[in-house]
Amino acid sequence: MQYGYFDDNSREYVITRPDTPYPWINYLGSDEFFGLFSNTSGGYCFYRDARMLRLTRYRYNNVPADAGGRYFYLRDHGSGDVWSPSWMPVKAALDRYECRHGMGYSRISSARGGLAFSQVSFVPLRDNCEIHKITLTNESNIDKYIDIFSFVEFCLWNANDDMTNFQRNFSIGEVEVDGSRIYHKTEYRERRNHYAVWAVNVPVDGFDTDRQTFLGLYNGFDHPQAVFKGEAGNSIASGWAPIGSHHIKTKLSPGESKTYVFVLGYCENHEDEKWESPGIINKKPANVLLEKYGTPESADRALAALNEYWKNLLGRFTVDAEDKKMARMAGVWNQYQCMVTFNMSRSASYFESGIGRGMGFRDSNQDLLGFVHLVPERARSRILDIAATQFPDGSAYHQYQPLTKRGNNEVGSGFNDDPLWLICGVAAYIKETGDYGILNENVPFDNNESLADTLFVHLKRSFDYTVNNKGPHGLPLIGRADWNDCLNLNCFSKTPGESFQTTANFESGIAESVLIAAIFVFTGPDYVSICRRTNRNDEADRAEKEIAKMKEAINEHGWDGLWFLRAYDAHGKKIGSRECDDGKIFIESNGFAVMADIGLDDGRAQKALDSVKEHLDTPYGIVLLQPAYKDYHLELGEVSSYPPGYKENAGIFCHNNPWVTIAETRLGRGTRAFETYTKICPAYREDDSDLRRMEPYVYAQMVAGKDAARFGEAKNSWLTGTAAWTFVSISQYILGVRPVYDGLLIDPCIPSGMKGFNVTRHFRGADYHIMVDNSEGVEKGIKSIMLDGVRFDSVVLPAFNDGKRHQVIVTMGNK
Ligand code: BGC
Ligand code: NOJ
Repeated sequence: MQYGYFDDNSREYVITRPDTPYPWINYLGSDEFFGLFSNTSGGYCFYRDARMLRLTRYRYNNVPADAGGRYFYLRDHGSGDVWSPSWMPVKAALDRYECRHGMGYSRISSARGGLAFSQVSFVPLRDNCEIHKITLTNESNIDKYIDIFSFVEFCLWNANDDMTNFQRNFSIGEVEVDGSRIYHKTEYRERRNHYAVWAVNVPVDGFDTDRQTFLGLYNGFDHPQAVFKGEAGNSIASGWAPIGSHHIKTKLSPGESKTYVFVLGYCENHEDEKWESPGIINKKPANVLLEKYGTPESADRALAALNEYWKNLLGRFTVDAEDKKMARMAGVWNQYQCMVTFNMSRSASYFESGIGRGMGFRDSNQDLLGFVHLVPERARSRILDIAATQFPDGSAYHQYQPLTKRGNNEVGSGFNDDPLWLICGVAAYIKETGDYGILNENVPFDNNESLADTLFVHLKRSFDYTVNNKGPHGLPLIGRADWNDCLNLNCFSKTPGESFQTTANFESGIAESVLIAAIFVFTGPDYVSICRRTNRNDEADRAEKEIAKMKEAINEHGWDGLWFLRAYDAHGKKIGSRECDDGKIFIESNGFAVMADIGLDDGRAQKALDSVKEHLDTPYGIVLLQPAYKDYHLELGEVSSYPPGYKENAGIFCHNNPWVTIAETRLGRGTRAFETYTKICPAYREDDSDLRRMEPYVYAQMVAGKDAARFGEAKNSWLTGTAAWTFVSISQYILGVRPVYDGLLIDPCIPSGMKGFNVTRHFRGADYHIMVDNSEGVEKGIKSIMLDGVRFDSVVLPAFNDGKRHQVIVTMGNK
């Protein structure tokens, strides 16, 4: 069943009933201030760091689901009827309901008892606040007297402490109220120089800032006593749980509408300008902010600017095709999700609590791949931040903190695939922009300026880290784990709760990864190209020899007869081999080896992908391994800790599916490539939402595999490397519009039944309007290219850099 539909013209997903199979969320904010916003107004917001600077509280894993948000309550003064116009938390039935999630904004509209409500929520460009503009309309033919209550619950900034350190927290909460403006200033008296403000642009009839006064100690969000009484307590919080609630009494004649602008903002003061007078916070920054968004018109203008911003961004890559599902995903939602993963890494979603994880070294480098065409300058500075956390030997902290930009020791290092993703990220940036200058940037190692060297040297150290850390078969040592965080071959953990990722009870020094070898062969040539293009030919020659050696090692020790092996364990035993009882075949090494063109010349590539199809494919995507591990294996770690079919133990771990898609295009099998693309693509499962459960407009990290009871059910939507890789697979390898060092390569590989498509691509200062004609019905191959009306003999379009629009007509077929 469907719970909504795509409105392609307005680039919105329209949810038509509030009780979706899981909260279906959106992200507000594009730069420093972010909000998570569900279809029933749940979620929270933060400034830059979801753990350290969280403005509002959210209760993960609560009952009912989705507890905490920016809520509005309405009460009909005449009848005493109380409801939430977003359905939650009161859950009174609505006569009408609709939620539209758009690009950086969400709208909720509903009605009950003749009163219509509409809300638009967004974070304006360049300001650190959320705007919630609401409108009430009396659709009945009698006068209505309505009480409006707003509600947010403040988080005491550090979201981790906020949920754990109650002996302190219950005594430190402080607020100030000034008319319609409620200030949350906990810890401002001491080391903080920031506060939050929750304001509305009209005078209020009352307010509350003390949670207990507003809700009642034994009530939930569904039954706030102040709302049911129709009277605010005008409470001033002192410790316990500070909240912000406005009470507005209003009268609406038949047909009359009234609009209010609520702003939830983050404000900072300089250390020496913290106070207006003793004990009273300096409200200047809040005044400036609230002045700016003080009217419905100014809120509308800010929303229009946001819409314009997204229109321009998505104009950089557009798709027009008969297959609307593919077109809307590739042209809109997939890119949107790439922006979100770029901003959030794996920190804050409805599955990532915003507390535990910083920016991943591996994750952020891969997130770049789907984002770099949108805002290359931001990708550039991200690359420099990531590289600055690298260690002098080329290895890396696995994560770093977004606020301090320092490596995070909690998760340590030693994930031996990490360094190579830096090469991959930088290569993608240079191919997109042609900016080789980035290689000359001076970048610290381990955030230590005295160890700084050029970005190029960082790449060299990345490359050499693999070269210098090989095992007995000449394959890369795996360290703590490779891309598969759960393949912990040196962990040997028997202690409950011990971290699989940071523990090594037995440093074998020999466990090797065939996947890292394949990543090296895939991304190594980029290092070579970068060397050649910057006149480092000796280094390029040396690197080529190393890549050849690695290929040799894979050929000799990484092939199992019908597919590529996955690894060698700490005892030198094969993993991902027909010799194994469980875990005979893995997806990752097979996809990546073929992506790296290994075995293309001798039939092994095709065998490997055929084996993947035979053993791992399902209607919902390709599972990570088979057979699933039934028992816990000390020598394998977390992968065998999951029940069969979930997560890395034979779940459909979507991130690696596009590797197979790309690999299939290397073989020229467009029909199969497209099939692997569509199987995990959410838009194709929209009418299967009861089973899939996650948002139909975004990818999920995992779909339960065939061994699981809940086969086909997705989890962990939004923050996953799937977003970037699926975008790469569809845009660069299936539709085949791929930035390369010298220009824009045209190399489609599509189902023979796809008769053509159009893509517009902004690339290095020019717009390419590409029309692909496949009336011959081939899967791959180009017969001719007409560029600006003239026959063009290469498949690499030049980088024009002329600010103009260029017409490209591509005819597919056999030459
Ligand atoms: C999860 C992985 C994740 C890892 C690192 C594991 O528990 O299953 O998906 O990558 O933790 O945080
Ligand atoms: C999620 C992590 O963020 C990512 O880095 C990892 O590759 C996958 N899990 C697979 O374990």
